[in-house]
Amino acid sequence: MESIKRGLKTALIGQRIVYYSSLGSTNEVLKELAAQGAPEGTLVIADEQAAGKGRLGRQWLAPSGASLLMSLLFRPYFAPNQAQRLTMICSLAIADAVEGLTGLPAGLKWPNDIFIRGRKAGGILTESGTTGGRLDYVVVGMGLNVNLAISALPELRGMATSFSQELGREVSRLELLWIILAGIETRYESLRRGESPHEEWAARLINLGRQVQVTTPQGALVGWAEGVDADGALILRLPGGQRKRMLVGDVTLRSR
Ligand code: BTN
Repeated sequence: MESIKRGLKTALIGQRIVYYSSLGSTNEVLKELAAQGAPEGTLVIADEQAAGKGRLGRQWLAPSGASLLMSLLFRPYFAPNQAQRLTMICSLAIADAVEGLTGLPAGLKWPNDIFIRGRKAGGILTESGTTGGRLDYVVVGMGLNVNLAISALPELRGMATSFSQELGREVSRLELLWIILAGIETRYESLRRGESPHEEWAARLINLGRQVQVTTPQGALVGWAEGVDADGALILRLPGGQRKRMLVGDVTLRSR
């Protein structure tokens, strides 16, 4: 943990760090700390998770020591429906950091996946707590496949990749972490000045302007991914012309 602090170039983000070699889920630990009053910017980071959580109730698999597994605490002043803006700034900071450090082309896939050359290399799980209709905390959990041999996880083969797999060499998790946290801090400052990240985020999404299938817990819909709104919802134009605003789901591309 001292080594994490050594290269940290932030004033808020990661000023309090809670490191575990192994835990259940960084999101779960940080939600407990948030309930106990932990300050904004608290970072929970682990080398291994026994119960890593993905979106839509899925598991997040990561062998020990090969990924960045972390959760960051925000206590924003804005309305609960704007919490997705924090996911946007974190995913943009990740994409910038990956491109800057490795030169790999990093794309974002709605709602919050990090993609490299058509394969998933990371994901974000954002969870928030509200009191009396106001955001009490937002926990942004980030999982990045940094030095992961995908062959070690047969269930992910063909769908997932890692930075080391794409580059043919290992990437420093520490350096990547420092750049990501600095990027999040800069973007959080502009968010607090009232600037919305949504246009930059939309421009980086790889699945807009395409025919897609959106799978939700309620079923699947096929349509044209027309755009996203400032709160992060996907605007899907259905074959009948009607528009649907989707907040959750998984997107599969149907054609080029
Ligand atoms: C997804 O793509 O489904 C989201 C994956 C999010 C995984 C990260 S790993 C660190 C943090 N702690 C968790 O339990 N999940 C998130």
